[in-house]
This record gives sequence, structure tokens and C-alpha cells, in this order.
Amino acid sequence: MCGIVGYVGHREASGFLLEGLRRLEYRGYDSAGVAIADQAGHVSICKTTGRIERLASALAGSPLHGSIGIGHTRWATHGAATEGNAHPHVGGEHVVTICHNGVIENYQQLKSRLESEGYVFQSATDTEVIAHLVTECLEKECVDEEGKDSQEPYASLVTAVKAALSQLRGTYGLVLMFRDYPGVILAARLGSPLVLGIGDDEHFIASDASPLAGYADKIVYLSDHQIAVVTADSVQVTHRDHGDVRHSVESLQVKTPAVDLGGYSHYMLKEIYEQPESLKNAMRGRLTEDDATAMFGGLNLTPQQLGGVKRIILTACGTSWHAALLGEYLIEEFARIPVEVEYASELRYRNPPVDPGTLVFAISQSGETADTLGAIREMKRKGHRTLAICNVVGSSIAQEADGGVYLHAGPEIGVASTKAYTSQCMVLALLALYFGRMRHLSVDAGMRIINAFHALPSKVRAALQTEEECKRIAAKYCHANNFLYLGRQYNFPTALEGALKLKEISYIHAEGYPAAEMKHGPIALVDESTPSVFIVPQGFVYDKVMSNIEEVKARGGPVIAVVEHGDTRVAELADDVISVPSVEEFVQPIVSTIPLQLLSYHIALMRGCDVDKPRNLAKSVTVE
Ligand code: G6P
Repeated sequence: MCGIVGYVGHREASGFLLEGLRRLEYRGYDSAGVAIADQAGHVSICKTTGRIERLASALAGSPLHGSIGIGHTRWATHGAATEGNAHPHVGGEHVVTICHNGVIENYQQLKSRLESEGYVFQSATDTEVIAHLVTECLEKECVDEEGKDSQEPYASLVTAVKAALSQLRGTYGLVLMFRDYPGVILAARLGSPLVLGIGDDEHFIASDASPLAGYADKIVYLSDHQIAVVTADSVQVTHRDHGDVRHSVESLQVKTPAVDLGGYSHYMLKEIYEQPESLKNAMRGRLTEDDATAMFGGLNLTPQQLGGVKRIILTACGTSWHAALLGEYLIEEFARIPVEVEYASELRYRNPPVDPGTLVFAISQSGETADTLGAIREMKRKGHRTLAICNVVGSSIAQEADGGVYLHAGPEIGVASTKAYTSQCMVLALLALYFGRMRHLSVDAGMRIINAFHALPSKVRAALQTEEECKRIAAKYCHANNFLYLGRQYNFPTALEGALKLKEISYIHAEGYPAAEMKHGPIALVDESTPSVFIVPQGFVYDKVMSNIEEVKARGGPVIAVVEHGDTRVAELADDVISVPSVEEFVQPIVSTIPLQLLSYHIALMRGCDVDKPRNLAKSVTVE
């Protein structure tokens, strides 16, 4: 998991490399590095641990000049987050310099063999194996006769790289520069996305399209097993097994991201406050009062196909999985279609019986999560229709799926997902209405749901007014080591998401449970120092949740409760109460999530944590 950039052209390479890495930092910020070749072809490397800004300062102090280079931001998989393990890595006597995203599963065997042949490893990474393998293939002339005889200037390079790649088991997005071929970068992918930006006498390479905005307006998406030979004025794409391929050039849809904090102290807080607007954007143009239903432009399925859906699988990771769980409750309730929610990392290697008539939705903010991508590929391979619910336009999952729905939430930069989560819940609620109205749901019921949707943004705005209360409660409990989050029915996913938010950014152990399940284990954790956060809106399980609160209080556990305006009963029991606006039960989770986000934010802040870039996490997990 990591971000890769590359540049070859007429400008100083360092400008794009640094800006591109800043935009890819969401993929990992354990260390970063660049390699730039000067006019004589001499490659210099600069690497630092930590954030891109440290690399930028190092480069400001000792600039690297040259118009060809590669760069990398790392999320450590093999080897600690040290400068030695930071990319780029070199093979042989600087014969090749590479950056890699992905995991090489057979690196140990390859490393042992290469070491026995005299190659000296400088790092503990799996990546360095690739650098030495390519060197070996170049030096030992693994180059076949075709490569030697070819008129193509880089044919022998391509042949050597193919020979090296064919020995790897695992995934890679790879960029390579060569000591003896100063004007060219090779880019190769298998399982880890890579794109090329086409400029005027210059070319850009990146892990996804975001670094290209403002630099190129045309993009080439490389496919698995493709290798691109990129110079300032040419791009040639070849397939590992089938020779040259015609690559299609598309218009770049991604705009330069708006990355300013807008006066907020953190992106997470900014994004929490953007939710009234992001929810409106998720609904915009997708509700029709005439038919009392929702509508979508990009599902790419006929009404017959949609009417024939017998089962839905929702697959995702992390926060998106929590949204999927709410989606299950809503779709089953409104549309009476059986829904299953699957961790993408499990689904991709399981072999569940899946009948024809099953529709698979992949839910992913980034659209780049490796496991989610792997899961929909597996489902497609088995002939099922796949749809994506993504935020990032043109992302790998959005492209891979047969159709889908975008969140239109705008860029989410804080690692802990906030506005994307509520927008995912919103889009799934719209889909539930849509499928429901294709089946048994009446016009009246459809209109009641639509009215609740329309009212939601202003209710969320009102829920944001709980911030001062959340801050007060955060100060009271920020030193706790454990938290429980408990909710039932529609608010079971809210409990899971509340717990995840807290642990992600404050490093406090937190568990989310269906409130009644607490009796089967988690209640053993309850004592005076373990707060339990209950989500207790009005509704048919209200009294049941009240009993669960009593059970915690009976054991001396502090209770923080999220309730609806006007509730007086909970306050008699709970130690602290956060009151949010009343809405229809099926959209209550969206409103109740707001104070949980704010509570986590303030607890993390009070504990001195880096809210936007928590330790060990990355915004997008591009390795499995
Ligand atoms: C990472 C992020 C989480 C996110 C998950 C899934 O773990 O830190 O915030 O929920 O990936 O990401 P996706 O982009 O697929 O929604």
C-alpha cells in the first residue's frame, strides 16, 4: 500500500513529484522518497521517514535537479518505517531504481537465491527483491533473441523487466528508472493501479488520477500485466504475454482537489461540518415526487434486470462496511429483498453459493481498497452484476464495476471517514426506496420516506450544535482506556461506527455491540472507569435499550446516551446525555452519528493525537 508518482519531460521533476505525493499521502505516510536523474543521467535519491512535508523540507535544503524522476509515499508492510526501508530502492550498482506499491509474496525465496548469488540487500522490504531481480535479468541477459534484435530502443529493457516480473508472486504497481537508459521510465502493474497522464512533451505516472489534475488533461489507465514505456514524447504499452497493445486515452475527469482547511483546525472537523451539504449532494436529482421514488443515472441495468433482483450482496471494508450493514436493514425493510453484508477481504476468497439474480454492490469511499476491488473482480468472474458506491470519480472500483452511484461528497481527506459514511448511508437509503417502490412499497410510504430524506440536512445541521456538549463530555472521559458503544436495530451499525471512530483517532480500545448482546461478554468489561455510549432514539426498541442501560448502571458503569429532543427518561439514568433532533427511525442513524464523530474528535484532540493522520492507518488500503 503506498502512492507512486513519476515524471519525464522538460520541467524540474521535483515539482510534480512532491505535489503528486502530497495528493497521494492518504495511501500512507510512514516515509517518502524521490529519485531524480540529472542531465548526465546520474540518479540521486532523497528519502525521509514520516510525512511528505519532511521530504519537502529535505529537498528544499538540498534540491535535486533533473527532468525525470520517480517518487513514493509508504505505508509499511515488510520492514519497519525507517529511512532505509523507504522507497526508492536500487538494484545492483544503481543499475535500476524503483518504487513499488503492493506485496511480493515469494520475496523470501527470491531474496535467499539472490543473496546466494552475491546481491547485497540494504533494506528489509519485499520491494528490493524486484530491484535486484531486474538487475539480474539485465546483467545476465535474460533478454531473448527477439529483444536483442529489435529496433525498438527499449526492447531489451522491456524483455528484462518481463523476465523479472514473471518470477514474482503477488501484486505490484511499479515504476523503474535505469542507469544506462536515462530518458525512460517503465511502469508496470498487476493488482495495484497505475495511470499515465499525457501532457505536451511530458508524461506523468501516478497510482491514481488525483495527482494529474492541473498537470494533464488526458489519462491512460493501465491494466493488469501491462508495461508502459514512457519517455518525454512517447508512451508505448505492451502486455506481459501478448506484445504491444493499443492503449486508449481518456479525458481526465478529476479536478484539482480543494484542500484548504476553510478555517477549521482539522480536515476531520471540516468534513463533519460539511455533512448537511454532502447529504444534499447525495440526494440531488435523485428523488422524484411524481413517482415517489429515487432514480439513478448510472446503474446500467434495465428495469427488467432490476425487477428480477432476488438477492443483494453488499461488500466493503472498515467504515464502508458499517454503512453496508445499515443498508442491509433498510433494503430488507423497504424492498423485502434478502441482503447479505460481506467483508470484502473474506468474500474474495470464500466461495459462497450465489444464485443468478444476485446483485453485488461494492461500497468504498476511495474506490481503491484492494480487498473490495478483489471481491468485485471475483464476483464478476463468476458472472454476477457488480455495482459500485464510491466517492472518488474514476477510481478503480468505479471503473471495474458494471455501473454505480457516486456519493458526490467532495474530497474526504481526514483518515477517519465522516461525511463519506453518512453519504454512503444516504445512497443506500435511496437505493432501498428505489427497490422498495419497484416492489410492494406504496406511493404514500414512498412519499413519507422522501419527506424524511428532504428534512435530513437541516436536522444534521441542528445535530452539529451538540459540539459544545460533546466537548464537555470528552473532557470528562478522555482518560478512559476502554469504551463500549451500544445500539439496537438501525443503530447497531451506528454503535460499530462510533467505536471505530474513537479507536481510529484516539487509540482508545472501543467495542461496538448490539445493546442486548452486551450481556454475552462485553458486560464483563463494565466498571466505573469504562464508559458505555448508548444510542437510544425513540422507537420500538426504546424500552429494551433502557433495560440495557439499567444493566450497565447496576454495575457502576458510566453511561453517555444519545437521545432525541424531548426525551426525559434517559436523563434519569444516564450520567451524560446528548440530545439530537427527532427524525424518522430509518434516518436516525445518520443524525445520531454526528455527536459520536464530534465526541471522538474532541477526545482525540485532548489526548494530543494527530486527528487527520492517525498512527498506523491510511485513508486508502491498497494492499490486501
Ligand atoms: C481504511 C480507512 C477507513 C476506511 C476503509 C475502507 O481502513 O482508514 O477509514 O473506512 O479503509 O475504505 P474505502 O475507501 O474502501 O471506503
